[in-house]
Amino acid sequence: MANFILLHTTLLILCLLNLPLPILPFTVIMSDPTTPSTLVDAPQMGFNNKAGARTDTREQKAVYDIMIATGNPWATEIPDVCRGRWHGIECMPDKNNVYHIVSLSFGALSDDTAFPTCDPTQSYISKSITKLPYLRTLFFYRCLSNTPQPIPAFLGHLGPSLQTLVLRENGLFGPIPSELGNLTKLKILDLSRNNLNGSIPRSLGRINGLRSLSLNGNRLMGPIPNFAFPSLNVLDLNQNLLTGPIPSSIGLSQSLTKMDLSRNRLSGPIPESILGLKDLILMDLSFNRLTGPFPNSFKNLDSLQALILKGNSMIATTLPNNALEGMQNLVTLILSNMKLQGPIPSSLARLPKIRVIHVDRNGFNGSIPDSFRAFKSLSELRINDNQLSGILPLDKDMLWKMGKKLRLYNNSGLCFKYANDGDVAGDSDLLMEWGIGYCSVHRPDMARPVEHTLTNKNNNNVDNIMPIVNNSSVLVHNYWLFHLLCLIFVMWS
Ligand SMILES: *[C@@H]1O[C@H](CO)[C@@H](O)[C@H](O)[C@H]1NC(C)=O
Ligand SMILES: *[C@@H]1O[C@H](CO)[C@@H](O)[C@H](O)[C@H]1NC(C)=O
Ligand SMILES: *[C@@H]1O[C@H](CO)[C@@H](O)[C@H](O)[C@H]1NC(C)=O
Ligand SMILES: *[C@@H]1O[C@H](CO)[C@@H](O)[C@H](O)[C@H]1NC(C)=O
Ligand SMILES: *[C@@H]1O[C@H](CO)[C@@H](O)[C@H](O)[C@H]1NC(C)=O
Ligand SMILES: *[C@@H]1O[C@H](CO)[C@@H](O)[C@H](O)[C@H]1NC(C)=O
Repeated sequence: MANFILLHTTLLILCLLNLPLPILPFTVIMSDPTTPSTLVDAPQMGFNNKAGARTDTREQKAVYDIMIATGNPWATEIPDVCRGRWHGIECMPDKNNVYHIVSLSFGALSDDTAFPTCDPTQSYISKSITKLPYLRTLFFYRCLSNTPQPIPAFLGHLGPSLQTLVLRENGLFGPIPSELGNLTKLKILDLSRNNLNGSIPRSLGRINGLRSLSLNGNRLMGPIPNFAFPSLNVLDLNQNLLTGPIPSSIGLSQSLTKMDLSRNRLSGPIPESILGLKDLILMDLSFNRLTGPFPNSFKNLDSLQALILKGNSMIATTLPNNALEGMQNLVTLILSNMKLQGPIPSSLARLPKIRVIHVDRNGFNGSIPDSFRAFKSLSELRINDNQLSGILPLDKDMLWKMGKKLRLYNNSGLCFKYANDGDVAGDSDLLMEWGIGYCSVHRPDMARPVEHTLTNKNNNNVDNIMPIVNNSSVLVHNYWLFHLLCLIFVMWS
């Protein structure tokens, strides 16, 4: 039960922030033998009763400074900050019963977790923060947004114990100071959703034990450095202005579970090295400038549940027939609007857990492989805006099951045929809605024109902007898994 309070706070923060997959940092924080600290592993509940227990006076002075700088002068009236602690400060004793500050948090995270907020007219991070040598967690969430400022370089001199630095959504601008690379004990670095620009400093590569790196939602430019973090679980660089290729060194981060590089300007082909990331659950490379050839095989991505590559213009690239084979856990496959052409590989239908397939707005031609008939798990299929033809190999049951999640319109000659030519009356409207006509078996003169005239009316949808996969896919699955874990922790505390 060591470090329990701290662990709990960190988890709660991560839970509330809904950070993706923070499951692994938890093990680390709980039993990290490398933390250079003489702190005694004891729950701090006993503090009030302990004779002689007191807060380190130098640290207490620093906390006063930090609180004044954020517009919280009330804190200076608390004679002993660890004794009269508020939500957002955590302390731990050393063996002389002197208490040290191990965690400081700011920002109104939720109704239940109200850390001190910042004065919107004049807040900043006080340099006294470097006088807290035992600090493990520093957390600012939506606090400094009204007083935009750069990330102070002195944060690079934070205590050698610092494991978690979160400066999320604070309107911070300017470059990421390369000094942050001096925080070599960091496990979690989250600078997401600010206005940071400049390039990603190479010095961050020194943080060997990094588990989670989130720099998404900034205006970072230049290439992704050749990082190789052996313990990295989460790499989130989405929505920046990053250029150059995906460095093949990412393949050395063998613990990655989530890799989101979407919405940048990355170019070149997908490097073969990342096809060996055995723990990867989410790979989102969408809306970049990646080019072909399409990788030969993703089959070593045993854990992958979502592969999202849409919006990369891989002009005239074909899918190798085995490209999508063997991904035992793939649930969501998004290859929309990539200028892919040639046939849809039949191996697609041999993905045992697949539920969502979007291959719309490409140049796929030929007929849809008959193996699609074997799809039992499929709940969403978009093959609209291609040049597919021939009989749609899906049974009526499947069509009905998918309903509006089936999009077939604007293909060259795709048509529907009942498995046994029974009563077909009444279904025409639905077929019309799906954008497909009957195959012209008996009455070729009637059926033929139907397919050609059907181009969809509600074609101008918004899924270029929205993440499409929020409720029928892996993301939902992870969301619940994640909240279950959070719930367990909240109950446990
Ligand atoms: C911190 O990093 C900067 C630049 O990366 C370097 O110049 C400086 O010497 C480092 N400081 C310490 C105390 O390690
Ligand atoms: C970064 O942004 C600041 C202001 O926000 C600007 O002055 C500076 O030129 C920008 N730097 C780069 C490299 O774009
Ligand atoms: C599909 O398109 C390619 C090139 O665009 C063409 O060579 C091939 O014959 C087409 N296949 C079918 C079945 O139409
Ligand atoms: C039909 O799909 C093709 C791509 O195969 C696209 O170029 C074309 O614009 C689409 N037509 C309509 C009317 O949307
Ligand atoms: C997905 O989520 C967004 C916002 O979270 C919502 O606006 C949208 O309607 C959702 N889409 C689907 C298909 O559920
Ligand atoms: C998914 O979202 C749609 C709204 O976009 C909703 O109608 C549908 O019930 C949701 N499905 C599930 C399984 O939650």
